[in-house]
Amino acid sequence: MIRSVVRGVGSALPRRIMKNSEFAATLDTSDEWIVQRTGIRQRHIAAADETTASLGEAAARAALADGGLTPDDIDLIVLATSTPNNTFPATAVEVQHRLGMRHGFAFDLQAVCSGFVYAVATADGHIRNGLAKRALVIGAETFSRILDWNDRSTCVLFGDGAGALVLEAHEGEGSVADRGVLAASLRSDGTHKDKLYVDGGPSTTGTVGHLRMEGREVFKHAAGMITDVIEATFAQAGITADDLTWFVPHQANKRIIDASAKKLGIAEEKVVTTVDLHGNTSAASVPLALDVAVKDGRIRKGDLVMLEAMGGGFTWGAVLVRW
Ligand code: ACO
Repeated sequence: MIRSVVRGVGSALPRRIMKNSEFAATLDTSDEWIVQRTGIRQRHIAAADETTASLGEAAARAALADGGLTPDDIDLIVLATSTPNNTFPATAVEVQHRLGMRHGFAFDLQAVCSGFVYAVATADGHIRNGLAKRALVIGAETFSRILDWNDRSTCVLFGDGAGALVLEAHEGEGSVADRGVLAASLRSDGTHKDKLYVDGGPSTTGTVGHLRMEGREVFKHAAGMITDVIEATFAQAGITADDLTWFVPHQANKRIIDASAKKLGIAEEKVVTTVDLHGNTSAASVPLALDVAVKDGRIRKGDLVMLEAMGGGFTWGAVLVRW
């Protein structure tokens, strides 16, 4: 059977790093509160010349270079974002243009923080159906543009950045020993759509709007939803938490990451955490974390890696990959 095997990984971050202490000048908050409640110490914030498309392009080029590939080798781009450069066309098409590609097809996918996990599963489907041979899967965001910078309960949590994977069609045996995407579980439930949303849009206000979140409500649901899709993915692949080499969760809050890992029985030393460095970069957080753990030598060929995310909608999902 055809498997979508990871061929390269890359990421890109805006030049400017914003430390927690910088918020204290305008808001009633502190480094101590932010670190204690979230684990976040800093985030990157895009300048005017840094956009979702430019960050996505840089991450894509890094992933291509990592795999020894060029844009000519790619025939699909799936770009997960909730902060596109324009309402349309898709930012994926702009990245395709920036890469000098006039072949293949490109589209955006919107599942907020779960976007990258959804995008990996979607690209895998197209590869296994024979619609594409090599896909760039990108998570790219500039959440700084939709934050209410006067709302201390949300603006301290998010950051900007992008990460990308190249997935490539390979023949596998159909067992869990294969390299590539092995199992996935995706969920959503719109009952919760008002707990984490943006209060604007083309068809309602005609504006971009600002992010609004009932943080405590999101927190309450997060660990249960995450556990649910990961256990479904374990069952599909016929493995247990002990078989995992690495757990790469969405980086929203260190407390949610720790609680989910504990609930699932995943050992602390298998958890990749970058929320301290990047904050919550929504669809970019999982590929940014992957790139850190691959480049520092933790994730290696043959490792069994669980990707997971949960976000606005709510949406949530998990993907199991043998690196
Ligand atoms: N600095 C200081 N105090 C603050 C700040 C701040 N930045 N923000 C809120 N507070 C205050 C609140 O006003 C509240 O004060 P009160 O008790 O006087 O009313 C107090 O701190 C406690 O607020 P809570 O919201 O209960 O704090 P909590 O411990 O729940 O932490 C947090 C808040 C970090 C937002 C947490 O709820 C959380 O992480 N939620 C989940 C967020 C998440 O995972 N999102 C993922 C998806 S993101 C996506 O899809 C785009």
